[in-house]
Amino acid sequence: MSDFPEVAARLVRAIEDWPEAGVTFRDITPLLAAPEGLRATVDALVDAARAFGPLDVVAGVEARGFLLAPLIAEALGIGLVPVRKAGKLPARTLAENYSLEYGEAVVEIHADAVTEGARVLLVDDVLATGGTLAASRRLFERAGAEVAGGLVLIELPALGGRDALGDLALTALLEY
Ligand code: PRP
Repeated sequence: MSDFPEVAARLVRAIEDWPEAGVTFRDITPLLAAPEGLRATVDALVDAARAFGPLDVVAGVEARGFLLAPLIAEALGIGLVPVRKAGKLPARTLAENYSLEYGEAVVEIHADAVTEGARVLLVDDVLATGGTLAASRRLFERAGAEVAGGLVLIELPALGGRDALGDLALTALLEY
């Protein structure tokens, strides 16, 4: 087993009352900034990604998924696809809406981002309500891919994200 749990316990920082009163934000920037933190994080993510079996693509969800997904894809020797917020991608896109606490948001991928049947692993920093990852899954399924699962650094189980993902296989390295 890696030293990831010990390193994460030391380097993931709790910020009280951010982004609003009553919320404790789990800040991974100190974990990524420390060489031993980044190394342990990448090792743990890559091990977890390998457990999903053969993969063709790692999909990183904007914005903090972009910090993690490329490291995994490069280590596995496979490709990287960004899941972007609305209006950022230049070619023809697929779009999916999802609910936020107040209002709605949209994620997009390029319509030709994956080949038919490609096995995709969805990567993000946090699973909260699950809306973002569920919408990302729908995008890749509409594009003809097979979504192998989701991989996040942090799950906030009290927010019920796992239920929102239905039968999607989900691995979380940390829970708060
Ligand atoms: C956060 C987080 C996940 C998402 C999880 O991103 O990085 O992507 O929320 O929440 P959910 O499970 O309830 O959907 P945010 O929407 O704050 O966007 P950002 O990373 O671009 O700041």
